[in-house]
Amino acid sequence: MDMEVIQAPYVRPVYSTVEVAGLTGAYTFLHITDMHVCAWQDVSPERREACHIREEHFSGEGMTSRERMPHLFAYGEAIRADRMLLTGDMIDFPSPSGVAALKDCIRRCTVPSVYAVGNHDWSYADDYISPYARAHYLPQLEDISGGCTDFHYEEVGELIVAAMDNALDRVSDRAMEGFSAVCRMGKPVILIMHIPLTMDSLHGPTAAMWGRDICMGPGGVGYDREGEENVRRLYRMVALEPSPVVAVVAGHIHFGHEDTLPNGVPQLVTELAARNGACRVITVKGKA
Ligand SMILES: [Fe+2]
Repeated sequence: MDMEVIQAPYVRPVYSTVEVAGLTGAYTFLHITDMHVCAWQDVSPERREACHIREEHFSGEGMTSRERMPHLFAYGEAIRADRMLLTGDMIDFPSPSGVAALKDCIRRCTVPSVYAVGNHDWSYADDYISPYARAHYLPQLEDISGGCTDFHYEEVGELIVAAMDNALDRVSDRAMEGFSAVCRMGKPVILIMHIPLTMDSLHGPTAAMWGRDICMGPGGVGYDREGEENVRRLYRMVALEPSPVVAVVAGHIHFGHEDTLPNGVPQLVTELAARNGACRVITVKGKA
């Protein structure tokens, strides 16, 4: 491990290093995923009980996820991360106070965040990913998503961090176009998204936990569906062919996993942060 280990209460980091040929600097990222913050106090009375139950489900060690979230952002400051990488399901449903709590953490933090939305951030369970939810709640997250939840990117020194919404088991044309353009910019790309790509070593563990492989790619979601050429294209570009992507960073499956895709690109999947503050410190540096 290269990096100095900094302890903090309520935060449990694991460490990964990504080596990139030709890089002169070193960059630190803090990956936080699946906080599932359940701010239920201001939801409508008929939703309150279900939302409260979700809060208990996503609490741990006597602490709600909402209480824990600021500690994770403070940790990003403590380790002087270059960016926070947020890969969705940061909130479990879009109550006004939940959206405000997330935006508050992002705005107060001296480390800027790059945020890819998940499948929960903009839906209530009783109206899950409906057209109404998409029209009313997803736009609220645009200002913390670089103005576009489908796809946005940021240049971080010699690197590009690209955030894609693949959370509904699909990839929009807009996201595919944005990603393709970023791949032509000539810089190494870190691709962050909610759903990981399928890999052999994830089939079994994911099916054991979720009943099927909920990752994206062959043997998982999206890939075999008619009309989802973008999913096949994304998988081909990122997992099979040589591309500027040097790492994929994702969440969604709620357990941690680190392995390489068939083309050798590392994929870092981080455990849900909700219950114990799990997160991942990612160091990106030149190849020795
Ligand atoms: Fe989740």
